[in-house]
Amino acid sequence: MIVMIDKGKITEHLHEEYKNICIKVFDSLDSTNLEAKRSTDMLTTHGTTIIADSQTQGRGRLGRSFYSPGETGIYMTMVLDAKEDMSQTVLMTTAASVAVCRAIKAVCNLECQIKWVNDIYLEGKKICGILTEAITDADTGMISHIALGIGVNCHMPKDGFPSDIEGKAGFIGLRHAEDREKLIAEIISQVLSLYSNIETREFIEEYKERSLVIGKEVKVFKHYQEGQSPDYDTDGGVVATVMDIDQNGGLLVRYADGQIETLNTGEISIRF
Ligand code: BTN
Repeated sequence: MIVMIDKGKITEHLHEEYKNICIKVFDSLDSTNLEAKRSTDMLTTHGTTIIADSQTQGRGRLGRSFYSPGETGIYMTMVLDAKEDMSQTVLMTTAASVAVCRAIKAVCNLECQIKWVNDIYLEGKKICGILTEAITDADTGMISHIALGIGVNCHMPKDGFPSDIEGKAGFIGLRHAEDREKLIAEIISQVLSLYSNIETREFIEEYKERSLVIGKEVKVFKHYQEGQSPDYDTDGGVVATVMDIDQNGGLLVRYADGQIETLNTGEISIRF
């Protein structure tokens, strides 16, 4: 039996103040982020959420793909009005990671960890990735909206995970029929709630508490092939110790020569 995503049930589970947001559900899309970029215009309202049961070209950060088979996960993009200073999109991604962890805790009673900057882990396996992209107004050339793409592995795919992510990818294991809709609704509500006062940065403490990398030795990769996920043991990278995460979501690292740097983008890898 094919279990499709039920829009009515999502609305039912949204927090009261967000019941009116626009939700669009598709059986399949190339990518919900691409659809958000294609369909967003001046009339698009804050919080509009595009959801697909499967994606044929699910996109990850840094040119990677995101495996998105049907009836398996949550693939959604929220369109958010850009705030004045959107130069720090890393802050947006940081807030979204905390929102997803809060939603998983609320619906599934599971505690997740965050690998800087936007990967969510459960028991050492990645169960969620977040891709934040800017949407630019064609007339003004200014960033008008943010496309916040969230992919959550809810179940083990029927044919297992592809070989390149097998062993690294995990899934939540939702138990009840309506849990996918409940989790989508909770993610939407948590993101909108956090975003409404993102300037306060109140979520940074929780981000740090959930961090998989603070105090750990990591490898920092600044130059590597687009689309590849660098491996701790086999790829290059520079060894560093993570000291802290700053108020903008930047990662403070100390290299072996004592030099300290704040990373705002890029990739780190950690040995599990
Ligand atoms: C990553 O892990 O690098 C980010 C993955 C982001 C995947 C989500 S799924 C919904 C949205 N649409 C996409 O094409 N990508 C994001």
